[in-house]
Amino acid sequence: MAIKSRLVLLYLFCLVFKTISAAPISPGSSLSASNGNQTWSSPDSTFSLGFIPADPPTSPPSFIAAITYSGGVPIWSAGTEICVDSGGTLQFLSSGTLQLVNGSGDTLWDSNTTGRGVSSAKLDETGNLMLQNGTASVWSSFDNPTDTIVPSQTSLWSIGILTISDPNLATAAIVAYSNDYAEAGDILRFLKLESDGNVRIYSSAKGSGTEVERWAAVTDQCQVFGYCGDMGICSYNDSNPICGCPSLNFEPVDPKDSRQGCKEEDGD
Ligand SMILES: *[C@@H]1O[C@H](CO)[C@@H](O)[C@H](O)[C@H]1NC(C)=O
Ligand SMILES: *[C@@H]1O[C@H](CO)[C@@H](O)[C@H](O)[C@H]1NC(C)=O
Ligand SMILES: *[C@@H]1O[C@H](CO)[C@@H](O)[C@H](O)[C@H]1NC(C)=O
Ligand SMILES: *[C@@H]1O[C@H](CO)[C@@H](O)[C@H](O)[C@H]1NC(C)=O
Ligand SMILES: *[C@@H]1O[C@H](CO)[C@@H](O)[C@H](O)[C@H]1NC(C)=O
Repeated sequence: MAIKSRLVLLYLFCLVFKTISAAPISPGSSLSASNGNQTWSSPDSTFSLGFIPADPPTSPPSFIAAITYSGGVPIWSAGTEICVDSGGTLQFLSSGTLQLVNGSGDTLWDSNTTGRGVSSAKLDETGNLMLQNGTASVWSSFDNPTDTIVPSQTSLWSIGILTISDPNLATAAIVAYSNDYAEAGDILRFLKLESDGNVRIYSSAKGSGTEVERWAAVTDQCQVFGYCGDMGICSYNDSNPICGCPSLNFEPVDPKDSRQGCKEEDGD
């Protein structure tokens, strides 16, 4: 009897806890970069919004406010490549706007929804963060993407087939099959436009925190336009594309970043 009532209590506690964690986010709430455990979650915790360390890590540490898939793979961030120090916060102000503020109080990113009647925020099970005015979504992360698109954000590629549609086409044109397409399981596939100029499909098994490349728009990275910058020459070492300069009369623009291209040597 005692055990049974404890179980009932535990069950009730879990229900209440789940309801709290899935409740709409109210204006006045904030998250802090120094506590990465603090997040706003979707109802079943498939996605959460919170701070993650910058990748690659910096010293002193810096953080990105991101929506991540279960396990930690990011699918959206507040601004592109905007990092804050450990004093940073993500603030959902009573004016209805969402702001990323750094430790010295500078606003580095703003959803710009002040005065639009926003009264709550919600992260749903598809990974969409919405700022709502009661009934309607006034702003959403799906409408303001960074470098990643997830299946429910656009048309039909949830099983790993990427299509492009146009009102003038009778049916959508198939662009690509990821090499794990139609495989079942708790997997998120996403499309990412990367800093090397390529577009790739990745998949991440729920909870794994890792992503596996499934498709690239340009297989030969050296064929990506401008990858090695002005006058740079692209070639491969064992496995990776590397950028070099045409001849001894040229030198890298930035010796620390061979992708910035080449210039004629000084003194010629
Ligand atoms: C975050 O969670 C981990 C694991 O549950 C815990 O060890 C750590 O102390 C927590 N950090 C903070 C700042 O609460
Ligand atoms: C906050 O951002 C401002 C503007 O970019 C910058 O000048 C300042 O150094 C930043 N503060 C911290 C603590 O990073
Ligand atoms: C918000 O408005 C400011 C000022 O007009 C602008 O610089 C900024 O890019 C806007 N933020 C977003 C996320 O669009
Ligand atoms: C919410 O926004 C929608 C679209 O802008 C508008 O039609 C609706 O009247 C607004 N509702 C409230 C309660 O402000
Ligand atoms: C090939 O290039 C990559 C990227 O620059 C580097 O990390 C790797 O060590 C290189 N491999 C060899 C065998 O030189």
